Amino acid sequence: MERVKKVGIIGAGHVGSTLAFILSSSTPYEIVLQDKDKDRARGMLLDMFQASCIGTKFTKLGVITNPKDLKGCDLIVIAAGSPRLPGMSRNDLLFANAKVISEICKDIKENSPESILLLVTNPLDAMVYTALKETGFKNNQILGMAGVLDSARMASFIYEKLQCAQGQIVAPVMGGHGDDMVPLARFSSVNGVPLSELLSEQEIEEVVLRTRNAGAEIVSCLKKGSAYFAPARATAEMVIAIMSDSHKILPSAVYLNGEYGYRDVVAGVPVELGRNGVERIVELTLNEKESSQFANSVNSVKTLIDELNSNYFK
Ligand code: LAC
Repeated sequence: MERVKKVGIIGAGHVGSTLAFILSSSTPYEIVLQDKDKDRARGMLLDMFQASCIGTKFTKLGVITNPKDLKGCDLIVIAAGSPRLPGMSRNDLLFANAKVISEICKDIKENSPESILLLVTNPLDAMVYTALKETGFKNNQILGMAGVLDSARMASFIYEKLQCAQGQIVAPVMGGHGDDMVPLARFSSVNGVPLSELLSEQEIEEVVLRTRNAGAEIVSCLKKGSAYFAPARATAEMVIAIMSDSHKILPSAVYLNGEYGYRDVVAGVPVELGRNGVERIVELTLNEKESSQFANSVNSVKTLIDELNSNYFK
């Protein structure tokens, strides 16, 4: 019998716990959950296990009480850290969350050096960079979730305008997970029909702007936290794509080593995902406007990474 795959989730906040619930209800993976509040993690897992007992297949769930419990994880999601509050940009969280990621990475390096790491903590691209630096893992082993979420948001706004074609809208987003992310209208389509055939230039511009602001729009409604249903579902999509060795192409935040002309930076690009994490980075041919928007977005991430290199990794 094939060994049951094991997924670690660090951080039982809104995103981590929702992700645990999605995975426990839809996959056969063993799930181990860690939170700095151990009782919270335990309570959630009891609740989720009882939920799984309503169905026919009981999920194997556990609480990480000791870093050694990370042993044997095929993939570890890091969703720990402070969330965005109203008025805060994702970047305001830089140093506080880098510290959280560094501590977690030490445990992972010691106990689960072969696992794939999937980061969700903001500012996302800089946190992927931090994890690469702290673990010394291979570039293919560490990636971040943002593009699947941003693309889903863009698709939702296109759907709002079209009022048709559910499930047929493809709307990729590249770049850093920040206010200057790059929604790729030219590569967006509805089952092969280019978006430009269906919406006016102005409507497309409205979709692009709303996509860039989508996280903040939710933060301003929720007041005490940020989005979590779509982030958790987007993370689950990536976990499943990697664990099932699907070779699906999904936008992911990865280390660029010459791709798109950038080095030593992390940014969202289309990536083929499989059991090794990043199997291949797909290089799109961007036009002038897209290239300059991507450059802008990558430079914003670079500013954060420079900040980390000069004031954090000393
Ligand atoms: C968002 C935050 C979590 O995009 O980055 O909702």
